[in-house]
Amino acid sequence: SDRYSLLILPGDGIGPEVMAEVVKVIDWLGAHRGMAFDVTQDLVGGAAYDAHGVPLTDATMAKAQAVDAVLLGAVGGPKYDVLDFAVKPERGLLRLRKELDLFANLRPAQCFDALADFSSLKREVVAGLDILIVRELTSGVYFGEPRGIHADDNGDNEGGRVGINTQRYTSGEIRRVARSAFELAKKRRGKVCSMEKANVMESGILWREETQWVHDNEFPDVELTHMYADNGLMQLVRQPRQFDVILTDNLFGDLLSDAAAMLTGSLGMLPSASLGAPMANGRPRAMYEPVHGSAPDIAGQGKANPIACILSFAMALRYSFGEGAAADALEAAVERVLAEGVRTADLMGPDGGTPVSTAEMGDRIVAALAAEA
Ligand code: NAD
Ligand code: IPM
Ligand code: MN
Repeated sequence: SDRYSLLILPGDGIGPEVMAEVVKVIDWLGAHRGMAFDVTQDLVGGAAYDAHGVPLTDATMAKAQAVDAVLLGAVGGPKYDVLDFAVKPERGLLRLRKELDLFANLRPAQCFDALADFSSLKREVVAGLDILIVRELTSGVYFGEPRGIHADDNGDNEGGRVGINTQRYTSGEIRRVARSAFELAKKRRGKVCSMEKANVMESGILWREETQWVHDNEFPDVELTHMYADNGLMQLVRQPRQFDVILTDNLFGDLLSDAAAMLTGSLGMLPSASLGAPMANGRPRAMYEPVHGSAPDIAGQGKANPIACILSFAMALRYSFGEGAAADALEAAVERVLAEGVRTADLMGPDGGTPVSTAEMGDRIVAALAAEA
């Protein structure tokens, strides 16, 4: 059937504010483009902890397993920083990623022309930028065992404790995310740059060997290069347009994608798609979320930029529902509104522009969408 089921988890801080603008887009597509969305909303993160004492209930997890796609706002905030590790808001997000097995996290960074002067880098470095970071999302040091904080009283350790996390990757985990990166590169400019630290880490050596294996055996026509991740991050800010697809692990991908946000003008611009294996209906397991967090410093003030969340929904249209034309139209609507100088606070920069609230930005984007052919 062509009904699209969505679980919306607005979360904490600015999460509900930016998600409200996505709901306007969903409602518009339902009313004017005949798309049939079955939308359920639920709690995640601190909001779930406040209601249920856990950052994600089993019932919510079961709903996430049953839908075509999850849309998530953001989780976390200072109020929850004191909680036990196991019930911190971030654990809810990580449980969703792990249990849905969303191993490929797509984080595109595009510099819209209207914002080329807003980056902390020079216009000539970022103008026209269009890169895609593919971050492994279900393994590596985020999930490796052993982990924990333990007593470590060897008589020569002031404080007497040790904190442990483990970087661990299997060849299968590397190969499947590498395949995603190569497939995506084939539809773009045909280049993958893989980043690790094979000079210091055995997991990095395996990463390099397995990505090369997938390349040589399955994608010989895609260009594959390898870089140490420290150099890679430097290259990303030195000359970002040298890249097409960047393939990297969970932790390096987290750092690289926040840095990439600044190439686009604001962290409030970066969307993401987290994809897993195909479900019975052929659609991939999927969750869509902005790269940014709950932004406690601006929450509740109508200042948040909803574009990252709206563009994440555009990715849902494209990757979960095969609605490529609607995704293109939504992205074009965002571009048009930016070209008109409409600006949330994070985008107020050299051109003056028209300052708007979160809700006004959403309204302007829906109006621009309606004006698209
Ligand atoms: P953050 O991304 O929330 O904020 C970093 C800076 O960017 C802040 O100054 C914020 O105001 C600004 N910013 C972020 N999104 C914006 C938007 N849409 N519009 C305008 N400005 C925006 O990162 P942080 O401050 O390091 O973390 C805050 C909380 O969010 C923490 O609890 C963290 O764990 C959590 N977090 C959650 C996610 C997620 O849910 N996916 C991602 C990152 C951080
Ligand atoms: C992100 C966030 C998360 C991560 C946190 C909130 C668990 O920073 O999605 O980039 O580290 O993956
Ligand atoms: Mn992050």
